[in-house]
Amino acid sequence: MSMKLLLIAGSARNGALSVKLRDAARAVADAAGAQTSVLDLRALALPLYDGDIEAAQGVPAAAGTLRDAIREHDAIVIVTPEYNGFPTPLVINAFDWLSRLKDGIAATTDKPVALLSSSPGALGGLRALNVLRQYLQMAFQMLVVPQQQAVSKAHEAFAADGTLADAKGAAMLTGVINAVLKLAAQRRR
Ligand SMILES: Cc1cc2nc3c(=O)[nH]c(=O)nc-3n(C[C@H](O)[C@H](O)[C@H](O)COP(=O)(O)O)c2cc1C
Repeated sequence: MSMKLLLIAGSARNGALSVKLRDAARAVADAAGAQTSVLDLRALALPLYDGDIEAAQGVPAAAGTLRDAIREHDAIVIVTPEYNGFPTPLVINAFDWLSRLKDGIAATTDKPVALLSSSPGALGGLRALNVLRQYLQMAFQMLVVPQQQAVSKAHEAFAADGTLADAKGAAMLTGVINAVLKLAAQRRR
């Protein structure tokens, strides 16, 4: 049975390292037989969360797009950059809006998710990963798999074909993706 996997990058800029890692993760999942899709958080064009916007206009429809995408997939992969030790506002703001939908948390509850990060720095965004893990587990009831990967020196980590050049790093990425697909398959049974 083929698992449906949604991959989300926490940066949308041209040449984003997190998009490269998202695409490398997608290739691994495709090779494992998953049906993969990506969701571009920038394309949702969600305003910065503001209670006055919510009171006047309700939750933007784009938050429902994120909710529906999560609902329609068996598992999620989120690749976040690290801004000052934290996941990016692009990720947090989208999930904050989702949490304001009455059925938002129902869509995330018990959903398997794997976390990746990338940075030109030496820690690869590890601090942001751990914050994101806590946020998604506590507030969104997501099943964050223990396996995770912070790709350091990410500006020089990718081979020309988009894979992780370092064999150990590539094996670790396969391990993370296999872990979330396995959990998703166990939950589907
Ligand atoms: C506001 C800001 C804060 C940053 N803080 C960190 C940090 O705490 N740790 C880190 O490793 N890199 C940090 N960086 C560097 C990012 O890792 C780097 O810009 C990275 O390429 C961003 O991800 P992207 O390529 O996916 O857009 C920061 C960058 C910005 C713009």
